[in-house]
Amino acid sequence: MQRFLDLAQFSRDEVIDLLALAQRLQDRPEPAALAGKILGLLFLNPSLRTLASFQAGMQRLGGTAFVVTPGAGTWNVETRDGAVMNGAAAEHVREAIPVLASYCDALGIRAFAEGKDLAADLAEEQFMRMAGLCPKPLVNLESAVNHPCQALADWKTMDDLAVPRRGRFVLSWVSHPRALPLAVPSATVHMAAQRGMDVVVLRPEGYGLPAAIMDKARQAAAAAGGQVSETSDRDVAMRGAHVVYAKEWGSPQHYGDAEAEGRARAMHVDWCVRESWFRPAQPDCHFMHCLPVRRNVAVADEILDGARSRVIREAANRMVVQMAVLHRLLKG
Ligand code: CP
Repeated sequence: MQRFLDLAQFSRDEVIDLLALAQRLQDRPEPAALAGKILGLLFLNPSLRTLASFQAGMQRLGGTAFVVTPGAGTWNVETRDGAVMNGAAAEHVREAIPVLASYCDALGIRAFAEGKDLAADLAEEQFMRMAGLCPKPLVNLESAVNHPCQALADWKTMDDLAVPRRGRFVLSWVSHPRALPLAVPSATVHMAAQRGMDVVVLRPEGYGLPAAIMDKARQAAAAAGGQVSETSDRDVAMRGAHVVYAKEWGSPQHYGDAEAEGRARAMHVDWCVRESWFRPAQPDCHFMHCLPVRRNVAVADEILDGARSRVIREAANRMVVQMAVLHRLLKG
């Protein structure tokens, strides 16, 4: 494996094989597997879990990691080709990425969506430009429309909980003070489809995921024997649900227009997950969220602090699955 950028680049069997390696490393640690290896981590956006879990995972395998967060002790970096760099950025990724890659054995990059041009973000134009500058094994730490490490951890979390392969998986839009990117919902709907589940995207009108994201998930579902549908009817979506996965995202209809998006979102502040949502679901329906989460805006305390919540387990599994990714990238 040379790159870990998108679960869709791997067959279902290859993902299952990677998860088996994660389980093996969890059951039988290999504290010297990556001795002498160095992971570089370039964060163009903030993080808690991704930043800490990659460093911890690398150390648990005997390797080490360095972190670069432009603007916080290092130069601000420019990502746009052809930019006239007379602003805050003193360095361009065209130099920064190959320089960082020369110091390490694998590089991880986090670069969120630019949030202006939906087509450009759906095509991952910014991330793929940066990926093209990296001559070393590369990990996507979250790009415009993907978060494969989160998706892999969430798949493992459902396996740990013995969620049926054909179980009903509800990805629900939830409220947030501002529009958030499409990376996690996009990666999540594809992951659940690739796992073979009965996937339902629950969202208010105007918040349907872009056709390119839904089509990609439907292709994965067709190959895995599952299905993908969408609705704005909460009771319909929740009927028989085994898992409810909450996520905030901005309306694709108002992409790049924060004011219009804010007006649309203001009508849906009641989309905060509460126990009453679960009446039509399986009695032991699990609740998932990638974190960070706004308590009592996106999800009520009664859920996050209640028996359904699996959010800490998901976050813990980030480190476990990423150790498998690093093992494959650096040890083969
Ligand atoms: N879920 C996730 O990626 O968390 P961070 O943004 O804190 O890394």
